[in-house]
Amino acid sequence: NKHIGILTAGGDSPGLNAAIRAIGKAALATGRMDIVGFRDGFRGLLENRTMRLDRDVLSSILTRGGTILGTSRDKPHKMMVGGEIMDMTDALCANYHHHSLDVLVCIGGGGTQKNAWRLAQKGLNIITLPKTIDNDVAMTDVTFGFDTAMEIATEAIDRLHSTAHSHHRIIVVEIMGHNAGWLALGAGMAGGADVILIPEIPYDLEEVAAAIRKRKQRGTNFSIVAVAEGAMDVENSRIYHKLREEKQKAKEEGDSRKKKKANEALQKFAAVNRGNTVQLTKKLEEMTGLESRLTILGHVQRGGTPSAADRLLATWLGNSCVNCIEQDLYGVMVARSGNTTKPVPLEEVVGRKNLVPPDHPWVQSARNVGTCFGGW
Ligand code: F6P
Repeated sequence: NKHIGILTAGGDSPGLNAAIRAIGKAALATGRMDIVGFRDGFRGLLENRTMRLDRDVLSSILTRGGTILGTSRDKPHKMMVGGEIMDMTDALCANYHHHSLDVLVCIGGGGTQKNAWRLAQKGLNIITLPKTIDNDVAMTDVTFGFDTAMEIATEAIDRLHSTAHSHHRIIVVEIMGHNAGWLALGAGMAGGADVILIPEIPYDLEEVAAAIRKRKQRGTNFSIVAVAEGAMDVENSRIYHKLREEKQKAKEEGDSRKKKKANEALQKFAAVNRGNTVQLTKKLEEMTGLESRLTILGHVQRGGTPSAADRLLATWLGNSCVNCIEQDLYGVMVARSGNTTKPVPLEEVVGRKNLVPPDHPWVQSARNVGTCFGGW
């Protein structure tokens, strides 16, 4: 029998259990594979905390949110052990062999792809699946979790419409997505937000306020502003990208002291200026004369039962993952591509991000129906 290990890492997202179920059931159905789960991402592999994944366990999880395995943001090369941050990559590899694994399936977002790649470079057989509500993993058309989160954020915008309308207010709604604008763009469009602000299109606040004032002049005294948590105005975006470049340069030069300093500066700046929806809401009130309120959707977007589309995608990718295992095809991420799935070498996935192209058809369509992006 081939012995499969499976873990879920990074932020949770709807559809993880559907993926675990699909991999488990399809693997067991071959009669030539068995499967064991590791709890809380790479942490569970390090600490040998396993979970039995038999048919009974796999049978009741399709519709459940979160992940039955638990997750963590632990990175193999930077793990907190005994109060110290240590590189545990070799220890994880040793445990892979200790559990006699033939393959380790790592389900996660961009960070997990990178971490899994580190283990693959050490000679382990690795397959990954792309999940995240941010939809920012490179080389796949879409990630599971995104559809559900977009549904939740859209419903929130629908509900905010009626209260904004009744009180003649601006309601700013902050939507997750890390540095990508997919979720704010998708939900903003589906919910008919009047303004959509995303990191990929730095905005000019005066342009946003002008769009809202124009609506007011036409007699529409409310506006919904969908803001991605990573959105920034033109000036802040310029500084942020400069700091990122400095960090990248220090990394390429291999200067760890310089890299640490650059990273600290970047984190400090990002903490104050990414999103900053409190400031944005206050300024819009001042600039338009309309009372304004802020709603931060937060982790609500990651919770609860997955949508049908995410269950389908997770089940499909999970099955394709087992096909890869049957063919001994490792070092790949199973991606969605057009009408099919395909294994993509991990080196083509890591170090890249799927961001919204500013000329994406969604952006064009939203502009054509009158949505303000505040820039470009
Ligand atoms: O990557 C998913 C995500 O929800 C991002 O949209 C968000 O920036 C981040 O995770 C929040 O992380 P945490 O759950 O650690 O607060």
